[in-house]
Amino acid sequence: MYKKISFIGAGNMSNAIIRGLVADGYPADHITASNPSQPKLDTLTNDLGIHVTNCNISAIKNAEFVVLCVKPQILKNVCMAFMSEVSLQDKCVVSLAAGIETSNLIVYLSGHAQLIRVMPNTPSAIGCGMSGIYASADVKENYVTFVEKMMQKVGETVVVSKEDDINTVIAAAGSSPAYFFLIAESMIVSAVKMGLSEQQAKTLVQQAMLGSAEMMKQTPTLSPMELRQQVTSKGGTTFEAIKCLQAHDISKIFDEAMIAAVNRAKEMAKEF
Ligand SMILES: NC(=O)c1ccc[n+]([C@@H]2O[C@H](COP(=O)([O-])OP(=O)(O)OC[C@H]3O[C@@H](n4cnc5c(N)ncnc54)[C@H](OP(=O)(O)O)[C@@H]3O)[C@@H](O)[C@H]2O)c1
Repeated sequence: MYKKISFIGAGNMSNAIIRGLVADGYPADHITASNPSQPKLDTLTNDLGIHVTNCNISAIKNAEFVVLCVKPQILKNVCMAFMSEVSLQDKCVVSLAAGIETSNLIVYLSGHAQLIRVMPNTPSAIGCGMSGIYASADVKENYVTFVEKMMQKVGETVVVSKEDDINTVIAAAGSSPAYFFLIAESMIVSAVKMGLSEQQAKTLVQQAMLGSAEMMKQTPTLSPMELRQQVTSKGGTTFEAIKCLQAHDISKIFDEAMIAAVNRAKEMAKEF
């Protein structure tokens, strides 16, 4: 059954989700976006025919699901401004804000606890996103199911049962597109140094990355280690390259990078 969804903030992430929903046939007249500046709203309503408004309060009054898509730094003030004017009874609030924990969100929302945290990543904008979802045990199951389906319009979802795990979601999927871009960047620089054109190098690297990810998906019975071993014959070219990466302890480097991301997420949580 279609529910009324209002997005508070019409920036990059709400755009991605709204476009995914409408492309999948979600009725545009069940979606509202609220934003202070008009141009983003004009584009959304012209492209998709959704409702738009500059008033968070009217957007929230109309909604069964309220998706908070403003920057974390302003979320508290945004919530305080609308909480004096609206009741959230029978509404589910979804927060995309990185680093703001449920305990703080409940305070911002004057005790409202039917809320779900979602941590998407930027490939959501092209329908290849990965979102982690956390809801406390008190949140109605049908709310969680609805939010999972909503985020599946722009990619895949994993529901985590402990809030701390959202930080690991950030390290593994929220931040990780940047790790992959860094790997691509380094490989392209090297291939260009060896004589390929920038375009040739980019095509080779991006297609190899895409193909590798697709192989992981399409052969779920094989672990990444087994897939790697399949292309690594002793004494061959891949063997030499992997030996070099392992000599620099690539696994340890990634372990440290992921821990650094989680630690930063924990620090950020204390800032709110
Ligand atoms: N982008 C990502 O990859 C990503 C990943 C995970 C989580 N998130 C989370 O998603 C949320 C949104 O991020 P984003 O990248 O979409 O940011 P964004 O592009 O900057 O969008 C935020 C939007 O909020 C609007 N806004 C500002 N004040 C507002 C108010 N008082 N009421 C309603 N809207 C207001 C801004 O409008 P104006 O521009 O007109 O000021 C802007 O359009 C953040 O909490 C972020 O942590 C994002």
